[in-house]
Amino acid sequence: MDILLIMIVPVSLLLLGAGFLVVAQVSGFMQSTFFNSRQNFSNMIIQQYMERITLAQGQLYQRKQELEAMSGKLALSNQELGRLNDMKSKFLSMVVHDVRTPLASIRGFSELLMKKKVGEKETAYLKNIVSSTDQLGRLIADLTDLAMIEAGKLKMEKALFEFPDMARDILPGLSINAQKKGVDLVVHDFPDGVLVNGDKFRLSQVFMNLVNNAIKFTPAGKKVEVSFRREGKYVDTLVKDSGIGIHPSETRKIFEKFYQAKYQKDAALRKQGWGLGLSIAQEVVRAHKGDIGAQSPGLGKGSTFWFKIPVGT
Ligand SMILES: Nc1ncnc2c1ncn2[C@@H]1O[C@H](COP(=O)(O)OP(=O)(O)OP(=O)(O)O)[C@@H](O)[C@H]1O
Ligand SMILES: [Mg+2]
Repeated sequence: MDILLIMIVPVSLLLLGAGFLVVAQVSGFMQSTFFNSRQNFSNMIIQQYMERITLAQGQLYQRKQELEAMSGKLALSNQELGRLNDMKSKFLSMVVHDVRTPLASIRGFSELLMKKKVGEKETAYLKNIVSSTDQLGRLIADLTDLAMIEAGKLKMEKALFEFPDMARDILPGLSINAQKKGVDLVVHDFPDGVLVNGDKFRLSQVFMNLVNNAIKFTPAGKKVEVSFRREGKYVDTLVKDSGIGIHPSETRKIFEKFYQAKYQKDAALRKQGWGLGLSIAQEVVRAHKGDIGAQSPGLGKGSTFWFKIPVGT
């Protein structure tokens, strides 16, 4: 019995050890198979990503080349645009120069003829010629300013002056325009002792533009009010009218050159100008480090134009 026991124990121990060995080997095999398939899977995904990256790199390269070609074309058209713009400016100043001289002589001779003893009819014709040459003269003056602005040559002759003086000097002429149209021009008090370091002629041009516009776009029997106020370091000029008003989408656009409001129905009023006055006024005000703008509650409800200039010392 003892001998049997002695034999069984080692044999079962041997069997147990062999069992463990087999289990360990099987589990090792399974583990390595699992690891390998995971590795393969990751490799496959990496491979896919690499392929996509290569594809994207190719596309990027192609886009870059397209962009380079486009920017080359743009540079060329920019050059061409610059050349055409130069040509346009030269043409403009040439026309302006060549029209101004004969215009002055047409006006001069017409005035001379008016002084002679001519009939009523002829006088009326001559008056018509003079007023038409004046209108053309104003266009030429605006085009000259425009050509100078475009060439960066619109110079401001700055000097210290009493701001209200500028307005006082030109208001009588503006009142005549208002009277002719049947518009009531009301001028509120000036703040005295406001000195401005600026170009008096150019600033009066701005003021004149705003008041003449207000008169032009206000029907007879209605009112245009002019007022001035001191606002911190600025003097503010306001021109308020009770005229045809401006559509909200156009209160900025009307400051662009040659722009005339499209929502305003009165074509006859449009024909009385070229859409240049406000763009020139804006350039002059900006050259004085000031600002200009317009507000209107809407079409038919009047508008207020303003410009402000820093007060000088
Ligand atoms: N007071 C105003 N009320 C309503 N619309 C105005 C007024 N002032 C200007 N506008 C609008 O702005 C446009 C541009 O004005 P701007 O003074 O530049 O040109 P214009 O008066 O038409 O012509 P120009 O001044 O060259 O003789 C006008 O055509 C008009 O449509
Ligand atoms: Mg105008």
